This record gives sequence, C-alpha cells and structure tokens, in this order.
Amino acid sequence: MYRHSMDNPEEFWAEEARKLHWDKTWDKVLDWQPPYARWFTGGRLNASVQCVDRHVKTWRKSKVAIYWEGENGETRVLSYSTLYRDVNRFASALQKLGIKKGDKVALYMPMIPELPTFMLACARIGAIHTVIFSGFSAQAVCDRVQDTGARLIITADGGYRRGKIIPLKEIVDQAASSCPTLEKIIVVKRTGQKIPWNEGRDVWLSSLMDDNAEYYVKPESVESTHPLYILYTSGTTGKPKGIVHGTGGYLVFNHSVYQWVFDIKEESVFWCTADVGWVTGHSAIVYAPLSHGAAIVLYEGAPDYPAIDRWWDIIEKYGVNILYTSPTAIRMFMRHGKEWPEKHDLSSLELLGSVGEPINPEAWQWYYRNIGRERCPIVDTWWQTETGGFMISPTPGIEAMPLKPGSATHPLPGIDASVVDTDGKELPPGQKGYLIIRKPWPGMLLDIYGNPQRYQEAFWSRFPGSFYTGDFAMRDEDGYFWLLGRADEVLKIAGHRIGTAELESATISQPAVAEVAVVSRPDEIKGDAIVLFVTLKKGQQPSDALKKEITQHLRNTVGSIASPDEIYFVETMPKTRSGKIMRRVLKAVASGQTLGDLTTLEDEASVEEAKRAFEDLKKTSEKNKQA
Ligand code: WTA
Repeated sequence: MYRHSMDNPEEFWAEEARKLHWDKTWDKVLDWQPPYARWFTGGRLNASVQCVDRHVKTWRKSKVAIYWEGENGETRVLSYSTLYRDVNRFASALQKLGIKKGDKVALYMPMIPELPTFMLACARIGAIHTVIFSGFSAQAVCDRVQDTGARLIITADGGYRRGKIIPLKEIVDQAASSCPTLEKIIVVKRTGQKIPWNEGRDVWLSSLMDDNAEYYVKPESVESTHPLYILYTSGTTGKPKGIVHGTGGYLVFNHSVYQWVFDIKEESVFWCTADVGWVTGHSAIVYAPLSHGAAIVLYEGAPDYPAIDRWWDIIEKYGVNILYTSPTAIRMFMRHGKEWPEKHDLSSLELLGSVGEPINPEAWQWYYRNIGRERCPIVDTWWQTETGGFMISPTPGIEAMPLKPGSATHPLPGIDASVVDTDGKELPPGQKGYLIIRKPWPGMLLDIYGNPQRYQEAFWSRFPGSFYTGDFAMRDEDGYFWLLGRADEVLKIAGHRIGTAELESATISQPAVAEVAVVSRPDEIKGDAIVLFVTLKKGQQPSDALKKEITQHLRNTVGSIASPDEIYFVETMPKTRSGKIMRRVLKAVASGQTLGDLTTLEDEASVEEAKRAFEDLKKTSEKNKQA
C-alpha cells in the first residue's frame, strides 16, 4: 500500500477520495504549484453532509453520535438524527444573522454539544469557523477575532472547570470592546448564572430558534479547496498564525487515516480527550469520527474532577472502544497510582492512542498495562496543526505490526517523511536530524491566513521543495521513527503548543519588565515547563510579589497555560557580541544541566563567553532560589 502510494500518489488518493460523498467529482486530483498544493480541484462537497446527512439516510439515523458528559454530572445523548436537526437549526440561526459563505465565525465555548454542532453548522453554509480554546484570555480572543475579521462570535454564559464556572461571556465582552469588526455575540445557555448583557449586540441562541418549526438548510456545495476552518497555533516568531485548512483534502485525508490508525467503524465509541479548541479536537472529535458515523464521547471538565478516576468511570459508563489522549495525562494518572483505573471495568477498550508530545517508554508501559490491560495496541500518532491529520503512526487498521514504546513507527501511506541534516541531506539510521516531508499530502494546510509570506518562510524556505516540520527526529536500524521534540522555539506545555516569542511579547508588556527571555526546562509531567529570565527596569526591585504580578499578567494576556513555573530575576541577559540572547546558556541553567557540547553552539558566542555567562548566571539563579 505504501509503495503504491509513493509510486502513484494521485491514483492512490483518488481511490481514497471515492469513499466520501461528492456532489461533483474532481477534475484534477492534485494541483501542485509549490509551495501550494490544491487537492481534488473542481470537486464539490460539504463537510456537514459528510459528517451528518450521509448517516441519517441509513440505519445510523437512530444511532448515537455524541455522548456528552458535563463536569457537573449532567449528561446528554445525541443521535445522528438529533445532530442533523440541530445542525440545521443552528445553520438557520447563523443565516438569520446574515452569515453566509466565506464569512468567518469565531467560537469560544466550553466542551458542550453545541460546539461541534456549530462547527458543522458553519460548514453547512460555507462559513469558515475559527475555534478559540476556552482557556485563552480576552486578549487572545481579541487577537484572533481581529486577525480573521470575524463579525460573529459564539460563546456560552459559562463552562465548568474543576467545580468552578469560567465566565466565558464576560471574557468575550472584554475582548469585544477592542474588536471593531465584531457585530454579534450568540450566547448558549450552559450554567444559567447571571451575565452582563448588551441589548442589540448579544443574542441568546434560543431566541434564534423556534422549537416547533421545521428546519432544513440546504448545504452549500463548496469547492474542495474552500476553507473549512482557520485555527491559530504558535510558531517560532511573532503572533500565533492562522492555519487554514481546506474541505476536500482535509476530509479525505482524515477519513482515511482514522481507518488505518484507529480502525474506526460506525459501531466504535471513540473518545478523544483533547479540547475542541486544538487541532486534535477538530480532527479527532469532530470531522474524522463523525465522517465514519462513529459515536464520540465529549467530556466538559477536568480529568481528575471530582475524583481521580473520572476518566475511567466515563470509559466504563459509555463502553469506550478507543481512547486517544496525551502523554501528560498518562503521566499525571501514573503519579496517582494504578488503584484508580483498577476500580473500573475497562474491557470495552480495544485501542489506545497518544498525541501531542513524545511519549516516554515508562508512561507507554503504564498505559499499556494499566489502561489497555496488555490487550490494546498503543498508536503513538505524530502530526501537527499544519498537517491536519496523522503523518507517522502505527496502523493497526491495516495490519498487525510490532510496536516499540516511544516510537511513532512509520510514515503512513502517502507520507514521504525523511530525517535530514542542516543541508537537507538524508541522514543514516541512528542520527538525529530535522524531520521533513517531501511530497504534499491531502491534509496539508492551504496557507497561513492573510500571510502567504510567512507560510513560505515558516515551512518551505529552510529545506527548499520540502515541508519543514520544526521537529527533531531519528530513524533506527529498522526504519522506525523516533520523534525527539521541537527544533525551534516552540514549547509543548502539557501537549499544548505555545511559542516563546508569544510569551516574551506578553511578558515585556508588564510595566516593571525591561527585558525577558523565555526558555523551557523538562518537566516530569507536563513535558516542558516555562522558565522566565527577567531583567527589571531601573528602580524596580525583585520580589515574590513582583513574580506573582508577572505571572498574573501572563495569565491575563495569554491564558492560564502561560503560567511560568519559574521566574529568575537577573542583572543582565547573557548575550553574544551581536546582541543575540544565548538561549542555550539559559536553558542549561534553567534545567540545572551542564552546558554540554559547545562546539555546535548556535548562538554565535565563543565557548569562553558562553561558559562565563553560564557560571555567572548559575550563581545568580542559585542566590535567587535561596532568597
Ligand atoms: C509534537 C498536535 C512526539 C511535535 C497534534 C509536533 C509529537 C507538535 C507527537 C505539533 C508525537 C505531536 N510524538 N511529538 N506523537 N504528536 N507532537 O500543532 O513537536 O499542537 O510538531 O499538533 O507536537 O503540535 P500541534
């Protein structure tokens, strides 16, 4: 299959594409004009038809689409026919507000069924959704709304997290005050608490719908290359970039890879624990499982609330067959002990998945033994927001294969991955290098929204002709791929992606801060932890109170995931003569390591300079710690 996909990629992907419902078949499988790939051009389809309408025409009409579990114990079960009715009702609500094909709609919502339903409703009328993770701050909401020029944002009165209510509507109000493009706010009722209201701008979802009316909104038959969504993610520099995904290629790719990797079927109960606000939620909660007519589990709250075994309870309750989660979550549960999963009947599980960061063999083994009970293969899926779907992963849906804990195994059919040195030369087994993809694939992003130059620079300039992933990798003698973390300034905090550049620009806006450098240090549970090195403005004194203020400032500007784990106040920042911050030095100090091999120092500092800076900084940071 792999060989066929490499030798005849267009024929191969055309065969896959035929598994979907097309209103009109494509004229051309691939239009590749580097660096832009356009898939199934001339073809027309609709994502909501693919995920919902197709099913209600079959026996799946009465089967479960969504098992929803609220953190506070509320539950709802939606069949495909209910989902179909809701998608149509919500689509009609959007139309009532004048939303049409090509308009951008922002979603800032808790994990409730209305979130996927609204995504599908947008897709139904050809509107382009941009989901904003509900843990982000007002500033982050505003940045994203501004960048897309969205006229409408959909939110809820609140959402539950660890027993508390997150005041989503209030955060949106704050954001709205500096978002001139925003005309309307649709509010979904979730918690029922009192919220501020702006008559004329704010609309309850319920007021846009009449329960007795019949709704049918004709799906907009969009071009295969029509954007399905924009999702913001962090890069090496600047603000988060809006990754644009298309309709046809994205859906074909995801439909196929979920069969190969997860062996997903209409009778599967699939639970991806990610938030819909990340790409994993887009592909693994909404578009891929629903396109297969599977049932998804959607859980609103924290993994350990009200008790450590909440997840294991959910698996038992809904008979989950496939669990897809992150190494961070596994490590967290590992720390609490195997007695928690042991209390539950997890025999419904057939397959386990991991995503977001490298999984360490110890966590892999714990997952395999205590959750899969040594019966379930673990698929370690490597992919990115930009790739749309899985790229390197075991494929138990195709054939049984030996797994190696910690390795994502092999590239999927159609994926031409390679590990190269700085000159782009392919490396032999056992050597660490940069992971690149040499051929376009249907899930590949269409562009960076509003910034084609950044698209070109971020992905296609480092190794001309190939897609640069920003990851380190190594192949072993058996051809297995080992993913070795980011090669750039992007951090993975509990599997969540955030750039040091973003954190730095947020910190620098705190009035006491003169200069800042953000680095990561390895964290046993979260993968990366955030460490700040800060120099203060004249007259400012280092103190614990100031540390708290800076932390709060970061939470307000970015969101709670930006909370620093450590803040060091330093007199001067170690820099090279050309003024570049010596990040390797900072990183070594932050992780309590030695400087390591200095001959490959990337920051143009002489070995002596770096050593001196390292020793100085170590002394200051130790003093800091004692204080
Ligand atoms: C990392 C998440 C090792 C990687 C789907 C990548 C992984 C970044 C794995 C993308 C894995 C994701 N093993 N590392 N199985 N999966 N990564 O865009 O560094 O949030 O570049 O997409 O996560 O993060 P993103």
